[in-house]
Amino acid sequence: MNSTKILFVCLGNICRSPAAEAIMTKKILDSDMEWDISVDSSGVMGYHTGEPADMRMKQHANLRGYEITSIARKFNPGKDFKEFDYIITMDDENYRDITSMDTEGNYTNKIHKMMKFCKTNKTDEVPDPYYEGREGFEKVLNILEDACNGLLEKIIDDNK
Ligand code: 4NP
Repeated sequence: MNSTKILFVCLGNICRSPAAEAIMTKKILDSDMEWDISVDSSGVMGYHTGEPADMRMKQHANLRGYEITSIARKFNPGKDFKEFDYIITMDDENYRDITSMDTEGNYTNKIHKMMKFCKTNKTDEVPDPYYEGREGFEKVLNILEDACNGLLEKIIDDNK
């Protein structure tokens, strides 16, 4: 398998996409595929650039055995469209923002909505937990675990 590069994208890069990055990283390590697949995350907005992930997200993820270590950065269209093979957005607004930066439509096939990889969760988007309580963070983790399972299967399938 060639090395496949995944970039998860949310709004602030402090809740959803860093959690997706940590979950996917663990699934890749557990599957002994760390030489084949690498993972990163970024945000549409740069407001939290340079900050660690939201403490609530880190704590909830930790309880499930995931360690979120990433530092927030803003999506870089000049670099990220070329560098990554799968650019995966968390909600419809993220999807619209990222596709609108692909002005020539050269990278349409790389941009995906995270929900399309879910097998059991049937919501349309990975909801923003920033203004939510504990349930909001747990719900995000349930969705992300489900979607990461589907995404890993899809990548393995795409590389057969
Ligand atoms: P995220 O959540 O997009 O999952 O990182 C958010 C984090 C911060 C803000 C919004 C959403 N904010 O408005 O600062």
